[in-house]
Amino acid sequence: NVNGAKAGKTRNIVKKMEESNKNCVIFYGSQTGTAEDYASRLAKEGKSRYGLETMVADLEEYDYENLDTLGEDKVVVFVLATYGEGEPTDNAVDFYEFIISEDASFSQTADPPLEKLKFVAFGLGNNTYEHYNSMVRNVTKALEKMGATRIGEAGEGDDGAGTMEEDFLAWKDPMWTQLAEKMNLEEREAVYEPVFGFIERENLTRDSPEVYVGEPNKNHLEGTQKGPYNAHNPYIAPIAESREIFTVKDRNCLHMEIDISSSNLSYQTGDHIAIWPTNPGREVDRFLKVTGLLPKRDTVVSVKALDPTAKVPFPTPTTYDAVVRYHMEICAPVSRQMVATIAPFAPTESARAEMVKLGGDKDYFHDKISNKYYNIAQALESVEPSSSWSAIPISAFVEGVPKIQPRYYSISSSSLVQKNKISITAVVESMNIPGRPEVLKGVTTNYLLALKQMQHGDQQPDPHGLTYEITGPRNKYDGIHVPVHIRHSNFKLPSDPSKPIIMIGPGTGVAPFRAFVQERAAQAKAGQTIGRTLLFFGCRKSTEDFLYKPEWEIYKKDLGDSFELITAFSREGKDKVYVQHRLMEKKDEVNELLKQKAYFYVCGDAANMAREVNTVLGKILAEGRGVSEAKAEEIVKGMRAANQYQEDVWS
Ligand code: FAD
Ligand code: 2AM
Repeated sequence: NVNGAKAGKTRNIVKKMEESNKNCVIFYGSQTGTAEDYASRLAKEGKSRYGLETMVADLEEYDYENLDTLGEDKVVVFVLATYGEGEPTDNAVDFYEFIISEDASFSQTADPPLEKLKFVAFGLGNNTYEHYNSMVRNVTKALEKMGATRIGEAGEGDDGAGTMEEDFLAWKDPMWTQLAEKMNLEEREAVYEPVFGFIERENLTRDSPEVYVGEPNKNHLEGTQKGPYNAHNPYIAPIAESREIFTVKDRNCLHMEIDISSSNLSYQTGDHIAIWPTNPGREVDRFLKVTGLLPKRDTVVSVKALDPTAKVPFPTPTTYDAVVRYHMEICAPVSRQMVATIAPFAPTESARAEMVKLGGDKDYFHDKISNKYYNIAQALESVEPSSSWSAIPISAFVEGVPKIQPRYYSISSSSLVQKNKISITAVVESMNIPGRPEVLKGVTTNYLLALKQMQHGDQQPDPHGLTYEITGPRNKYDGIHVPVHIRHSNFKLPSDPSKPIIMIGPGTGVAPFRAFVQERAAQAKAGQTIGRTLLFFGCRKSTEDFLYKPEWEIYKKDLGDSFELITAFSREGKDKVYVQHRLMEKKDEVNELLKQKAYFYVCGDAANMAREVNTVLGKILAEGRGVSEAKAEEIVKGMRAANQYQEDVWS
């Protein structure tokens, strides 16, 4: 593996634990950072409450052949997210394959290979997906079959029900009790020990050439960004074009073109692009103010890990401002555990009591904080509205506030048509929440909107307080560039364009289908035979949020009768009309096309739409083939397994 190997680090976990005197390793399989965050929190708690010598480890940085030789005085914790259709996260793919193949090859007659291994497991999943928490379930099953001893329940957090954080908190306490018993640990008064040390560098300023002000790594700092570009090394791409494809009251949808011509990046139709956001100026300022860091926002600091197994999650030397602006998810809702951890550092006795109450009382916390989606700075402000929280060690924020994460977008252009330009179609997220003074704004989409407004010199006020002018542009990329990387997906057109396809994509779910139709139109223009191309699109009103309305007519000219756009406008008549209703109306043709092995695609909302479309398709097949709905559901499952039914969904 490149990460471990490049840095000359060992991939042998047993050796690593021995060398660094650890008796507990917490592995994470994380896609969006939550599992990684939980792993760090468990490591902290194990250390401060039980004196466990913990380390956190990325699953892709180690090998697993020698797990059987780990001493009996040690314990392994797995925090595993399940991704998409029951898949491991990108960093857990090799681990998962290894465990599953070991499990399959181990014969029940032999001695179980992992008899000495003690493990703890927590899974992160979403019950709106069919394979709910399958990673943690399958890994637990395989480990137990190979003789390993599980400590506590294998916990399951549910993002679908919106209870992930509370599921985690409810799981961990009984788990700690059982782990302490198994490993003979005494609980002690939790003492906070910082993981990172901050050294202020008086000889450097934010303009010194070696100081990072948002550049992701050394190449970028030196102004020579170099591939290969990936999640560890994003490409800072110019924005070639940015426009709003609809703007209604407080809803906007952006279409952007990201120029990758000067990189060696490539994509295929159906892939995803990851965008790394910058936090809004207003929230950066709020955070720096409440923590007392505002007067020294541009002070240069070097950061060192005080524990040799911990990694500083950003490059240094850097400034306090840059750490907060580019590297921490400061806008995310604050966790109850974080509030409890920093309670001892409150500025007054009453603030401390309030923090302890918030940290300990789930319902009270919900009422006062999470109901309003307060981020860390807003939570602190709500308890004590001053800038007097400066006693909180900065390390506690770096440990407790998640690392900033990229957001993924389904690429809405065809790589055949525009190899060097990637289109994205993003609805700008904002939500009015009762009891919350300000609108809750999505970080990335509002950042992209602010970039668009900056690029166009728009007159309207900056919607997200992306106030660069407060302190001037912060690094040379700010403003006209976005850091990106590409993630390849299995969401693909049939290789033979004469095969029929059926696409269901309401709202921004239409993004990859714009790419599919664009590609087929180009193939038609080049004289290829194109199969039936049915697109079901839904939005509120034909006059409001009908995405790419004029473009479909252009594609139709090339594709002729093979292309049909079927629309469902949900807020035009007295009843809601959704894509699945239109699908039902087209049942005869849908059945006929599926007989001809049409590919069936669904993109967009995972929570309701994708599920309802699946159900409707079952009904259509049952009717068309004269079979029971149960049998039809089996057929749909078979289509999924054969990649004839593909989903690109998010919640
Ligand atoms: P964030 O800051 O991440 O917040 C997300 C939303 O939740 C906001 O509305 C915010 O107000 C609200 N919120 C914040 N915290 C909470 C909370 N705790 N509970 C509930 N709500 C909360 N989007 C598109 O527009 N187009 C696409 O083509 C597209 N493709 C995608 C493909 C994939 C594979 C995936 C996984 C996602 C895709 N998305 C797409 C969604 C996209 O990645 C982002 O999630 C979305 O744009 C919001 O990002 P943000 O940073 O603006 O919002
Ligand atoms: P609505 O907001 O009027 O209910 C894109 O967001 C479109 O998807 C909108 O027209 C929206 O309708 C619709 N939509 C909402 N819930 C849906 C569901 N469960 N299935 C299909 N479409 C849905």
